[in-house]
Amino acid sequence: MPFVRELTSWRAGPSDPGDFPYSAVLGEFQRVGKHFVEKELLALLDEIRTRVVAAADRAVPGATGPARLLCDFLDVALDKWDGRYDYRSYLALPLLRLPCTADDPVAGPEDTPENTPETDPAGARRDSDRLLLRLVADALAFELAAAAGATALLPEQRPGPETVAKRLRLGVRAALPALSRLDPARTVDDPEPAVAAATLHALAAADVTDDEERRLRLSMLPVYRSHDEYLFVRVLQAYECVFAGLADELRGTVAALTTGEPAAAADRLAYARDRLAAAGPLFSLLATMQPESFRTFREYTEGASAIQSRSYKLVESLCRTPEGSRLDSAAYRSVPEVREWVLAGHPSVDAAHRAAVRASRLAGADRDRVEREMRAFADAVLGWRRTHHRLAVRMLGARPGTGYTEGTPYLAAVRSTPVFTAVGHGPCPAAPPTNTGGCPE
Ligand code: HEM
Repeated sequence: MPFVRELTSWRAGPSDPGDFPYSAVLGEFQRVGKHFVEKELLALLDEIRTRVVAAADRAVPGATGPARLLCDFLDVALDKWDGRYDYRSYLALPLLRLPCTADDPVAGPEDTPENTPETDPAGARRDSDRLLLRLVADALAFELAAAAGATALLPEQRPGPETVAKRLRLGVRAALPALSRLDPARTVDDPEPAVAAATLHALAAADVTDDEERRLRLSMLPVYRSHDEYLFVRVLQAYECVFAGLADELRGTVAALTTGEPAAAADRLAYARDRLAAAGPLFSLLATMQPESFRTFREYTEGASAIQSRSYKLVESLCRTPEGSRLDSAAYRSVPEVREWVLAGHPSVDAAHRAAVRASRLAGADRDRVEREMRAFADAVLGWRRTHHRLAVRMLGARPGTGYTEGTPYLAAVRSTPVFTAVGHGPCPAAPPTNTGGCPE
């Protein structure tokens, strides 16, 4: 086993985390699937984590050095070995460094509306768009490489050419809003899907640091060898990036309502609504997944479910405080950090809106505009839930979820839960109709 030789020789030397043989280890994990990695290799990696890395810069909060990266990678790679496998480790979220604190709601004083997390909202939006672009472009690059016979990665259940062409088209459509927000002068409009996807990938690659590129590579640790799992992982990661961005916008909305800036509050809600609606094609993209492939690899994803997504639950609870029954259900028991944060008395748009109205900080045309944007955002969220439910029915049928719910009946039961209580949800505002997210079709 050449990778074991590489590892043992690395361990026998200075064991510099910056020289860790990532490619060899990653290659082996991807060759067999995380679920099937030999125990001998896992034990060796575990020993390396304990002996070499544990005492290094991981102890320093916020550390970003090579030892921290190695620790994060080993934690993700060894999740099944450790018995900690879950949604965050499956998607390697600690390695992706979502560009806001949404994945870490208990991070500190920024949880108060007076202390919003981002000092630079425009920078946070840009980072989020860049990450989304990288994720989608990488998924398409894998499709292109596999179709050209240029990669042996995840060789089972390859899709046919028509499916690939559809994926490339939908993937480009999903990434375009981020691309044009980053630079309105750039677009991808070649009618040939393979050319458009290759162009998108080249644009994404032109704007990436070495660290970002390395993290992107390391964040692909499928559990099995089925081609479509690559798409599944990247789409889930892309949605995590979107939810994290939405959480930032909602925090900003709370802060603006609290400090008497209704126009800023409405703008942030509008931005969040556009962002979620524009992400709709990600669901269309995932709908090209072959259901039999999904059923094959999900045999090994038991225990990892998006019900554990912190950023989704953070978005939900930043809109309004969930009812006690929901807080006590699997929905919030699966995200104990967010549940604690809610129980400790967290801020929400709903509460900030009521307080602002009571204090006469929000009235007249300003109040109308904020409430209109709240309703529009609520519509986008409800549309997302309906599309998600339909996709789950198609892929899963009557099977239970990997998050230990009964599956789609759970999603059907929660899909119309009100997003806000301070305002209802109303007719869809003027916005581009989409059949996968925004307005109901
Ligand atoms: C093949 C596609 C998908 C299927 C079959 C599916 C299925 C399910 C099921 C059955 C649940 C209930 C919890 C459980 O027991 O696991 C769930 C929850 C959830 N899924 Fe999906 N899902 C899919 C794609 C996605 C995608 C792309 C996202 C985007 C991140 C997503 C986000 C969520 C979230 C946030 C929840 C928690 C909802 C809540 O607790 O209210 N899912 N999904």
